[in-house]
Amino acid sequence: MHATVSNATAVPVAFWSMFSLKVDEELSLVLAEDRHAGVMTDLIVRNQARLARWEPWAEHPATLEGTRTYIRAALEDFARGRQISTIMTITSGDEPRFIGRCGMRINPQLGHGDIGYWIDGDYESQGLTSRAARGLITATFDELRLNKVDLRTSVGNQRSRGLAERLGFTFEGILPRGLQFIHRADDVALYAVTAARWRELNAAAVTQTRR
Ligand SMILES: CC(C)(COP(=O)(O)OP(=O)(O)OC[C@H]1O[C@@H](n2cnc3c(N)ncnc32)[C@H](O)[C@@H]1OP(=O)(O)O)[C@@H](O)C(=O)NCCC(=O)NCCS
Repeated sequence: MHATVSNATAVPVAFWSMFSLKVDEELSLVLAEDRHAGVMTDLIVRNQARLARWEPWAEHPATLEGTRTYIRAALEDFARGRQISTIMTITSGDEPRFIGRCGMRINPQLGHGDIGYWIDGDYESQGLTSRAARGLITATFDELRLNKVDLRTSVGNQRSRGLAERLGFTFEGILPRGLQFIHRADDVALYAVTAARWRELNAAAVTQTRR
């Protein structure tokens, strides 16, 4: 079943969050739950074409069932300490709005994370993804005691690479044909930042509050 596309700018949400990380006065990261599947699907459908350029999963049309399956698997991983899948949420306006995703896959044995993100086209270039990523990375270093976070993106994804570099990630090299799309494989630029380096860079760390 294909989702209905919302006409609204991003996606307004009622009763939006029991579990969230407050990044700052405007932005929160809401843990994705089953009941968010509808609004998340709307958000993906709105952005499907631009996401499909860089994210292999987005080459397949979003469906409510597909999003639900993804959220359930992510919640199981969350319970095992293997993934944090959040929805970027603007909380400053009249009503909260879901505007994108920011998540981390975790290897608890190695103490490593791997961050990923995307944002609604209307909210690009406002520094929101940078703030979301900074908040999530700080929380995982501080609370989960990870020792390193990686970031992988297609070599041609200059926006994502610029974001990684501005956050303080170090370029570690190229993984040839590391990202498989339906009709192509992209070389992947691998970035990483250690906990020690992150603390140096963010001496005045983001304040986090739990709701
Ligand atoms: C890559 C992507 C997540 C970047 O999101 P974004 O919210 O635009 O990123 P940010 O705004 O934090 O930073 C990017 C730009 O905003 C600018 N910016 C504007 N205001 C800013 C602020 N207050 N603080 C920081 N940066 C700001 C930055 O300088 C940067 O500009 P540039 O890209 O022209 O150099 C987004 O373009 C996207 O969703 N792309 C499609 C999917 C994708 O590529 N996902 C990543 C796969 S790894």
